[in-house]
Parts: sequence; structure tokens; C-alpha cells
Amino acid sequence: MRVLSGVQPSGDLHIGNYFGAIRQFLSLQEEHECYYFLADMHALTTVQDAARFRKLVRDLATGFLALGLDPSRSVLYRQSDLPEIPELTWYLSTVTSMGLLQRCHSFKDKVAQGVVPNHGLFAYPVLMAADILIVKSDLVPVGKDQKQHLEVTRDIAGAFHAVYRDDVFVLPEPLILDDVAVVPGIDGQKMSKSYGNTIDLFGPEKAVRKKIMSIVTDSTPVEDPKPTEDSPLYHLLKLFAPDDGERQWVKTAFAEGGAGYGDMKKRLFDYYLATFTDARARYEELKEDPAEVERILAAGAEKARETAAPLMDEVRKAVGIR
Ligand code: ADP
Ligand code: TRP
Repeated sequence: MRVLSGVQPSGDLHIGNYFGAIRQFLSLQEEHECYYFLADMHALTTVQDAARFRKLVRDLATGFLALGLDPSRSVLYRQSDLPEIPELTWYLSTVTSMGLLQRCHSFKDKVAQGVVPNHGLFAYPVLMAADILIVKSDLVPVGKDQKQHLEVTRDIAGAFHAVYRDDVFVLPEPLILDDVAVVPGIDGQKMSKSYGNTIDLFGPEKAVRKKIMSIVTDSTPVEDPKPTEDSPLYHLLKLFAPDDGERQWVKTAFAEGGAGYGDMKKRLFDYYLATFTDARARYEELKEDPAEVERILAAGAEKARETAAPLMDEVRKAVGIR
């Protein structure tokens, strides 16, 4: 199976990204041929500040590597290093109906939120289809919010096959990532950079500690049992607890009372450090060696183009440009 997924460099990596996506990317690389890329061209639909953009791309690549994405097993590259992707996007655009894109929830949601839509945001799913089809991926691990984009990818590939030839693309299947992993933010809503409620993976330790200490809690006294439903602290503690003994401690602390929220938050911070200390140290090392990160991305792009270039030849022949 060939697995592919992409993440936009549109904000600092947070623990929701790790538990909801990156952790699964790491386990998939044990068994499959994996292609992971930085969706930098997608991110331009929302981040339009060159200096900030460059930093976000570099930080995301560094973060992926620090967390254990292994370039000797997985192909890691930057979307914009494959010129085949925008070229394929155009051919796909010419067989994609306006209606198909108008029905996309993510586009409608952004417009409903008051975002003034640019053409890139509207055409976003076509670029995503090109990302997926260009390396002939079989399986695409994504969060639930991206499921429709996978259906659109299959529809676009089907439209191309109906108009031209039906042996050009591999139709991908989504691998919808586990729901258990919807990570709450410090305010109890879904953790998301758009809500400003994140706990970062690589921020300064002091800032992380401050975030954890400000997780919302109610006013239950120390000695009383504490409600677990809708408690982001409870869910985060359970997510991080390193073993059964610690998980049991969390359950008992909430069920029986006696532990205050402040102490529980300190324990969560200890779990956080135990989980991410090694990755954070690797991140700091790699940050000092941007040339190494660039070298890995360049090698990844070269490898991805081994599939992308011959596929593009087929596409050009199919449409009659060659
Ligand atoms: P954000 O919501 O912060 O903008 P992205 O949309 O860039 O995050 O998400 C990148 C990946 O991380 C996606 O695969 C998404 O499903 C996953 N992810 C983001 N936030 C969470 C969360 N709170 N819980 C679980 N997974 C998440
Ligand atoms: N749209 C995806 C997201 O926001 C990122 C992405 C771009 C992607 N191209 C992709 C994911 C191709 C999987 C496959 O999360």
C-alpha cells in the first residue's frame, strides 16, 4: 500500500496535530510505503506574509523530523518542489464541474465564517486531488473534516477517466483517523490554532507550562469528587497518562476527590515533558542545522518525482498536449 498525507504549514504544531494525525503517520511508516508532504501551496490560501510563511514551512519540516518521521522509511517533501502538481491541477480543473466545488463544506464553512474567498480557496480541493493522484497513493490518512475532499478526489479522477482514458490514475481510499483522538483545547473546545486554545509541541517550556496551568476548570473544592464530562483537564490527563497505573490515578483522583486541579495540572505538565522531551531536544538540534532539513526535503522531492514525472507524461499524452 502506498500511503500519502499532507499537513499545511499554517500555524505552530500543537498536541492535537500530534495525537490526531502525526502519531498515526509514524505508525503507518512501520508497515507501508509512506509519502508525507508539507502542503505549502495550500497554506498560501490563508497565510500571506512571506517571512512568517518561510518560518512556518521550516518549523513544520523540523517538527515532523523531530517527532520521528524517518526519511529512510518515508518520503518527506515540500509540495512546491514538485512542479508536476500545479500542472496536473490545471488538467484536473478542466474536467471538474463548478457544482462539485460549490458543494464542498470546507469552502462553504469558510465563507460562512466571513472569510472573503479567493479563487485558490475555491480551487483548493483540485490542488488536493493533484497531490494525491500524482504519486498514485492508495490510502490517505486524514481527519473527518477532510473526508469530503477524498470523495471529490475520486470524482475528479473519475471525470478525467470518463473524458480521456480510464487507466491513468489510482483511485485512493481515505483512512479516517480515529475519533477517540479529538483533542480538547485549554478552553474545552476542539484544540485548533484558529481558536487560540492550543498546547504547542515545541514552544518554550515556560509558555507550555503556563498554558497547561490555565486549562479551564470549575470551582469544585479540593476534597470533593470532580466532574469528568466536558473537563478538558480530565481528557488531556487520560490521553497523556503513560501507563495503567497513572490512568488509574487519574480516574481515582476525579472520582474520589482529594487532589486539587492545580496538582493535577502539574501532573499533566510532567506527562507532557515525559512524552515530548526527546522530540523537543531533537527539534532544538535540528533547528541549528537547517541545511540538513533542506537536504532531506530535496531528496524527498527527487524520490516523489520518480513517480510524478512519468505519470505526468501519461496525463499529457491522454489529453493530447504531447
Ligand atoms: P488546526 O485545527 O489547528 O488548524 P489543522 O487543520 O492544520 O489544525 O490539522 C492538521 C492535522 O491535525 C489534521 O489531520 C487534523 O485532523 C489534526 N488535528 C488538528 N486538531 C486536532 C484535534 N484537536 N484533535 C485531533 N486531531 C486534530
Ligand atoms: N487539506 C488538508 C488539511 O487541511 C491538507 C492536505 C493538502 C492534504 N493536500 C492533501 C491531506 C493531500 C491529505 C492529502 O488537513
